[in-house]
Amino acid sequence: MRTVLLTLLATLGLITLAGTAFVYVGAYDVAATRPHWPVTHWVMETMRIRAIKAQAAGIMPPADLMSHSNILNGTEHFAAHCATCHGAPGVPAGDIAAGLYPKPPDLKDTAQRYTPGELFWIVKNGIKMTGMPAWSDHDDQALWGTVAFIQKLPGLSEAAYAQMVMATIAQGGHHHGGDPPDTDGGAGHH
Ligand code: HEC
Repeated sequence: MRTVLLTLLATLGLITLAGTAFVYVGAYDVAATRPHWPVTHWVMETMRIRAIKAQAAGIMPPADLMSHSNILNGTEHFAAHCATCHGAPGVPAGDIAAGLYPKPPDLKDTAQRYTPGELFWIVKNGIKMTGMPAWSDHDDQALWGTVAFIQKLPGLSEAAYAQMVMATIAQGGHHHGGDPPDTDGGAGHH
């Protein structure tokens, strides 16, 4: 029994040492140009999806989620803040997206994989160790609008998207529906 315990301890010690050495020696390639090992990819992907599902449980969308004004609000928010990385119908993602790892996915069928509450959680909190920023300094109404817009994305044609963007411009843009006037002193957000 004693020998078993000692062997176990010695093995654990060696594994810890090897792990620490691996970290210190700089053997792990952090370059964005080098894809993850399959095992790292699996861990990150599974952890991300599990964490989102667990942490977003209980987030309920507002009753007017799919109202016209909410969708329009979200269209404006998406065009201004998200399309540079994720693209939009007829709008390719910008330069910054090409070099990111993981690459920002096209969101056209993302709504099929997540509930509105989960999408809200992702947009509000962002995703650690990826290029996906948190938008928690934007008001919830704009974020729910963006979630509504993502629900509309499957099958949204270039023409229909262009029309929606034109409609937001006609409205003067930056409508968050009943917001108090900018509270961030016009610091460039929203
Ligand atoms: C700087 C680039 C960048 C910007 C800007 C950005 N994203 Fe992302 N986003 C990413 C990346 C990279 C991922 C992939 C993360 C991953 O694979 O784990 C992502 C993932 C997502 C996902 C999850 C997709 C999926 O299928 O799992 C959603 C939803 C999303 N973003 C929505 C948005 C919205 C809405 C905005 C604007 C408010 C936005 N993103 C702005 C880079 C960006």
